[in-house]
Amino acid sequence: MVLIRSAAAVRRALSTMTTASGGSMLSPNMEKALNAHVAEEFNASATYLSMSFYFKNFRLDGIANFFEKESLEERTHAVTFMNYMVKRGGMPQVPSVKAPKASWPKHVDVFADAYEHEKSISGKIQALAELAEKDGDKSTGVFLDEFIQMQIEEVASAKKNLIIAHDYTVMPGLIRHLDDMIGK
Ligand SMILES: [Fe+2]
Repeated sequence: MVLIRSAAAVRRALSTMTTASGGSMLSPNMEKALNAHVAEEFNASATYLSMSFYFKNFRLDGIANFFEKESLEERTHAVTFMNYMVKRGGMPQVPSVKAPKASWPKHVDVFADAYEHEKSISGKIQALAELAEKDGDKSTGVFLDEFIQMQIEEVASAKKNLIIAHDYTVMPGLIRHLDDMIGK
C-alpha cells in the first residue's frame, strides 16, 4: 500500500482525475487568481469592519450596523469562493489581511471610499471572468456570473449612499437622518 504523505502528493494523485462534481480541475493560473480574489474579499471585509467602528465612535449606530453587515457579506463571499475552489480540486488559502484605514477626514469620505472599493472589486471580478474565458473554463465563468450581477447592485447602492452623504454635508447634523434611514 502506498501512503500519500503530503498535500502536494494528494494533488499530484488527483491531477489526473476529474473533480467530485465531475468537472475538470482548476488550472494553476485560475487557482492562483481565485486565491488572490479570496484575499480581496477578506480585505474588503476588514475595510468595512473598520468603517463600521469609525461610525460607532460617532454614535452613528445605524450606519455602523450597515457597514458591519457589509463586512460579514464580504467574508461570506470569500468563503463562497473558497468552497467553489475545493469543489474544483483547488487549494484555497486563508490570506493575511492588510490593516485597513481606520479614520477619515469627513464622514462622506468613508462613503466615497466604499464606492471606489465596490468599483474596484467589480473590475477584479470582470478580470477573473475574462481569465476564465481565456482558459475555456466555463464552470468558473458561470460561478462568477452571479457575482458580476451582484456587483452591479453593490456599485449602484454605494453610489446612492455617497450621493446622499454628500448632500447631507451642507448641514453636519443631517447625517443623523442617513443613520436612521440606512440602519433600517
Ligand atoms: Fe464581495
